[in-house]
Amino acid sequence: YTEKMTFPQQRLRRLRKSGAIRRLISEITLSVDDFVAPLFVREGISEPQPIASLPGVFQHTRDSLKAEIDQIRNLGIPSIILFGIPAEKDATGSGAWDPNGIVQQAIADCKSAIGDDLVIMSDLCVDEYTDHGHCGVVNDDGSIDNDLTLDLYRKIAIAQANAGADVIAPSGMMDGQVAAIRQALAGNNNLETPILAYSAKYASGLYGPFREAVNVSLENSDRKSYQQDWRNKREAMNEIKADLNEGADMIMVKPAVTYLDIIAQARELTDVPIGAYHVSGEYSMIKAAGKKGWIDETQVAIEQLTAVKRSGANFILTYFAKEIAGCL
Ligand code: PBG
Repeated sequence: YTEKMTFPQQRLRRLRKSGAIRRLISEITLSVDDFVAPLFVREGISEPQPIASLPGVFQHTRDSLKAEIDQIRNLGIPSIILFGIPAEKDATGSGAWDPNGIVQQAIADCKSAIGDDLVIMSDLCVDEYTDHGHCGVVNDDGSIDNDLTLDLYRKIAIAQANAGADVIAPSGMMDGQVAAIRQALAGNNNLETPILAYSAKYASGLYGPFREAVNVSLENSDRKSYQQDWRNKREAMNEIKADLNEGADMIMVKPAVTYLDIIAQARELTDVPIGAYHVSGEYSMIKAAGKKGWIDETQVAIEQLTAVKRSGANFILTYFAKEIAGCL
């Protein structure tokens, strides 16, 4: 017995003694229920294609996608988000709203294979479908035409909802996109489909591997005129409030780990469910360092995903979904 052992601070040590007691007193627990698995489906390929900068992630065919969602469901993961890569890209991204476009077909495939056992989210944007790789209509001077782009988003929303999407997730960061989509859905007699707004989406360098996944190269341009400046935090709260006023049912912060402060503040601001996107670069950095033996990738993945949840997110879009679901 030393006097030191009676310090109240010792309580913390006494409560860390075993795995069981740590489990008992843990404030939060990462669970498969927290995961949304991002999936890519590509038109015009006969075999799934690996994505070099996203090890373990594939561009799927319609058939391989069905096998993938079976596995995902069997692991207990509740949701996926779909991204499509069309065979042909054009200036406005018309494949995005074609009723027979690749993502519409994939949504319908998933719905008929799996019904309500998985929440099928669809990313709503045109960048995977445009030949220039931007999220909207590009004017002659290189600027993005916000309002012309909203007209395209309205059409995409209707096409995705008609195909059976359970949740529509606009990611293009155009002003007024949530209101435009909500109105378009209502005009199509659809008041049921929730909108998950990518509200606070930063112009991050961490999207690099995603661009490979959707065959986009931005060459000499960037998205800083419509995605957020990473120096700004109050602006993110304004983006979130605007989306909620426009009728968003859930909001998202993206990327995740670099923006935990934004997630935490969003948690204070609103009671709607908050998603956080652990993006391609966040995944690939862990994978690359793990492959070199510099870190334990499973441990770091669980640590980061837990941090995202601890910061206040209700669910996490993550390329680790399948792998980590098996470890929890
Ligand atoms: C845009 C979109 C992007 C991501 C999701 N939706 C790319 C971008 O804005 O540049 C990136 C996701 C990731 O990096 O994992 N449709």
